[in-house]
Amino acid sequence: MKEKAALLTMVFAALLLTNCSNLSKTSATKQLSTLKDAYKDDFLIGTAVNVNQIKETNPRLTEVEVAHFNAVTPENIMKAEILQPEKGRYDFELADQMVDQAKRRNMLINAHALIWHSQLPGFVRRMKDADSVRHFFKDHITTVATRYKDKVYSWDVVNEALNEDGTMRKSIFLDKMGEEFVVEAFRLTQAVSPETKLYYNDYNIEQPKKRAGAIRLIKQIQAAGVRIDGVGIQGHWNVNNIPMKDIEDSILEFAALGVDVMFTELDISVLPHPFQSATADISARAEYQAKMNPYAGGLPDSVQNKLADGYEALFRLFLKHKDKIGRVTLWGVSDADSWLNNWPVRGRTNYPLLFDRELKPKPAFDQIMNIKQDVSLTQGTNHGQLN
Ligand code: G3I
Repeated sequence: MKEKAALLTMVFAALLLTNCSNLSKTSATKQLSTLKDAYKDDFLIGTAVNVNQIKETNPRLTEVEVAHFNAVTPENIMKAEILQPEKGRYDFELADQMVDQAKRRNMLINAHALIWHSQLPGFVRRMKDADSVRHFFKDHITTVATRYKDKVYSWDVVNEALNEDGTMRKSIFLDKMGEEFVVEAFRLTQAVSPETKLYYNDYNIEQPKKRAGAIRLIKQIQAAGVRIDGVGIQGHWNVNNIPMKDIEDSILEFAALGVDVMFTELDISVLPHPFQSATADISARAEYQAKMNPYAGGLPDSVQNKLADGYEALFRLFLKHKDKIGRVTLWGVSDADSWLNNWPVRGRTNYPLLFDRELKPKPAFDQIMNIKQDVSLTQGTNHGQLN
């Protein structure tokens, strides 16, 4: 009996040793080498795309994008000011190219965004009467959503309609159409593009007050008998403040409404934030000061590791709730192209993404790949579930 127990202990110890050595980062990235493969049974892995990606100006960028991501969101080129620069004159050239490219690459498109108070064409910003706004609203949604029906997987139908306290944000749409504009946008999109997933997208909606506002909007849409398929939590966070509890509460509360939860614009800034509270409002700006740009010469290991730990904690949470999460999209491929180098202060050097300026994977990338390796070893499969 004793001998048998000793033998079992030895076998167990040997197995443990083998598993531990397999856990090394090199072996993990060898077995599961791409993000989209590692997470293929969990959720889509997206990235934002811009003109340089669509024009394929950098072959290495193309290579990394195609290898690691299976979904794209146009970072800018489907915004109203680009698609309809003048009243009734649409310019679909770049958007069409992106759609064709994504199809060739077998990537799903989350189109972004139909109705947003920001990046509106000048002719809309200058409108004074409600009828003109209503006309633009209907014409823009109908024309654009019809053109891309059956070509895009999903639409951010309404983007950023809320204030931080959960009330409606002041905008030309609220002003001229009232709060109903949100329901109306979903109704019009659904009518012309019945197969496309329809989402509400916003930043900071993991925060309790703003989350309550988003829940109110979702319920209004549902009560009107209009379809809403998902909610996008943008996920523009800072390495010193990733609100894990609020994020988990939000996943649960949004999912309880019967909608998919998406993380749609994930990036983690490592730089000091000049404002009192977190925001991703593009109109918020601060002056450049050297002390606000501490890592222009490179990122210290301590911050690099903190960033990697932040990403790991987030992806562990996403995996825990993978049955409720449809997609996790990074807001860009490499640090070089992130909007956070120029916002809210212009000309800084930020490090918010998974690939560095040479397009090499960062420790954050290794750590979120290694999570999957842990899972595959404990469950004997590459795509098991974490609890
Ligand atoms: O393309 C012009 C260029 O011709 C011009 O010379 C240059 C001068 O500033 O501007 C260029 O346009 C910039 C554009 O990005 C393309 O790079 C705009 O100034 C700049 O404001 C714009 O910023 C984008 C911002 O939305 C506003 O549209 C960011 O790239 C983009 O990351 C950001 O994305 C938003 C999401 O749509 C919604 N959620 C928040 C998120 C971050 O603000």
